[in-house]
Amino acid sequence: MRISVINGPNLNLLGSRQPEIYGDWSLADIENACRLWAAAVNAKAETYQSNHEGDIIDRLHAARSEADAVVINPGAFSHYSYAIRDAIEAIEIPTVEVHLSNIKARETWRQHSVVAEVCESTIYGRGVDGYRDAIWHVAARARWPLHTIAYGSEPSQVGDLRLPATDGPYPVAILFHGGFWRDTDGRDVLDAAAIALTERGWATWNVTYRRVGSGGGWAPTMADASAALDALATFAADRNLDLDRVVAVGYEAGGQLAMSFGSGLSEPAVRKRRVHPAAVVGIAPISDLEAAFAENLGDGAIEAYLQETPDYARDRYRELSPAGLVPIGVPVLVVHGDADTVVPVAMSRAFAGQAADAGDEVIYHELEGIGHEDLIRPGTMAFERVADELDLLSRRIAAAG
Ligand code: DQA
Repeated sequence: MRISVINGPNLNLLGSRQPEIYGDWSLADIENACRLWAAAVNAKAETYQSNHEGDIIDRLHAARSEADAVVINPGAFSHYSYAIRDAIEAIEIPTVEVHLSNIKARETWRQHSVVAEVCESTIYGRGVDGYRDAIWHVAARARWPLHTIAYGSEPSQVGDLRLPATDGPYPVAILFHGGFWRDTDGRDVLDAAAIALTERGWATWNVTYRRVGSGGGWAPTMADASAALDALATFAADRNLDLDRVVAVGYEAGGQLAMSFGSGLSEPAVRKRRVHPAAVVGIAPISDLEAAFAENLGDGAIEAYLQETPDYARDRYRELSPAGLVPIGVPVLVVHGDADTVVPVAMSRAFAGQAADAGDEVIYHELEGIGHEDLIRPGTMAFERVADELDLLSRRIAAAG
C-alpha cells in the first residue's frame, strides 16, 4: 500500500514554530517517522510539503495514480480552501486529515475544517501521534472490509462493523475506545485490535460516541454507549450476529462505559435495553471515578466528564463507576498491565476484589511489565493475551448458554 503524506503551509517550520502548540519535532522528524510507521503496517509513505495551494492540489492529483491513500495536514488551508476540498473529493481515494493541535479548542475560525467532510476522518490534538494513527487508520481500512453504520444522527454516533471470513452466527464484541472521554480520540485507535479479533472469529462493532468537546459528558456519552449496544439488534439478523453472545469491551475510559452494562445502573433504562451483554470486559479500565479524580488521571479529565467535582456530586462519582455498581451481574474480565502509567493497576486490583466480594464472577489478569498501550496493539504479547482471554470468555458463554 502506498500512502501519500502531504503537509501544507508553514509546516516546514515545525520544530521552531510555536513549539508550545505544535511540539518540538521538525518536519523531517515527522516525515522519517511516517516512513517507519508505514513500514510497520507493510505500507510505503511518500512525503511532500508545500506552502502553495496549487502545488498541494497538483500533488493530490498525482496521488490518484501514485498512491492508495492520502494523509494530509493542510495547515491553515483546512479552514478555507475549497479548492483543496474539491481536489480531495475529485481524486476519490481514502484521505485522512491530520492536525497536530486540537483545532476544536482553539480560535473560532480554526475550529472548522472545510476539507473534513470529504475525508474519511479527521484526527486532531494528538500531536505527532496523529500522523501515526492516520497512517495506521488508512492501512487498517484497506486490510479488512468494514461497514460504517450510524446509530444516531450526531456525527459521533457511528461505528464500524467487521465480520469474520467464516460462517456465522458470530459472537459479537462491541468495542469502546479510550482517550479519557475526550473528542481527540476516536474509534480509529482500536482499528487494529478490531481486525485482529475479527480474524479470530468475532464480529466487531467498534464505536465512537459523543465525547467531551463534541457534545459529550457523562449523560450523553453513556446514552450513546447504550444506543450503540442496542443498535446491534437492528442489523443482527442481516449480519448473522448472535445476540446471546455479545461481549462489551472497553479500553481505559471505554472501560467505564462497557463495565457499567449489566449492572444495576438506572434500572428502568437497563430493562428497556434490547441487547444485553453476556459479559463485560475492561482493558486497563477506569473503574473508579472517585479514585481517578483523586489521582488526577487524564489531567482534569474526570471533572470534565462528570462536569462536577465530588464535593458536589460524590454520589454521582460512585453511581457512574463500575466499582460503585457491583455486583455487575454478568461475568467480568479485567486485564491490566502492572507497568501502566496512565491508569494505575491498583485500580483494577481493587475493583476485582470489590466485584468478587459482591458476588460477581471475576476473571482478573495482571500482566507483568506491561504498560498501557500494548494491550491494544496486535502483535504484542499483551494484546495476544487479551485476545486469548476474550476467546476463552466466548467459549465459556457458549457453554453456559
Ligand atoms: C495545524 C492547525 C492549523 O490551524 C494551522 O494553521 C496549522 C497547523 C495543526 O497541525 O495543528 O498550520 O494544521
